[in-house]
Amino acid sequence: MSEVQPIDWQQLRDAAIKARANAYAPYSSYPVGAAGLTVTGEIVTGCNVENASYGLTLCAECSMVSDQHKNGGTKLVAVAIVDQLNQPLAPCGRCRQLLLENGLPGLLIETAAGLRTIEQLLPDAFSTRDLE
Ligand code: THU
Repeated sequence: MSEVQPIDWQQLRDAAIKARANAYAPYSSYPVGAAGLTVTGEIVTGCNVENASYGLTLCAECSMVSDQHKNGGTKLVAVAIVDQLNQPLAPCGRCRQLLLENGLPGLLIETAAGLRTIEQLLPDAFSTRDLE
């Protein structure tokens, strides 16, 4: 029988810190790392990748979601995002939308204010349900 494992937030933070080492952030000098735990227990990671055109910058969460899909696309249950001081970073608006679609309902995100669900971070969201 499978058991629900408690989320190891330190492991997720450490994975985000490791991913942050590969950030490409020469314009902002603001490297970010993200790590997500999937339903099947895998850890997927990402870092921000900036661009000379600025507006094409990919956030760490974008790159984490790409890693998630590369690994089969199993939904996320927990996400940690860290800044250069290892502090939790509030996901930007675009990334909240990405996390909503790629997480289970109730996806937990570590923020500076504590754990929040994606629904708390993005209330009354537009979602796949609106397309039905
Ligand atoms: N950034 C992220 O990677 N994730 C966010 O949720 C917010 C911002 C990145 C984008 C850019 O490379 C740098 O942080 C400064 O905005």
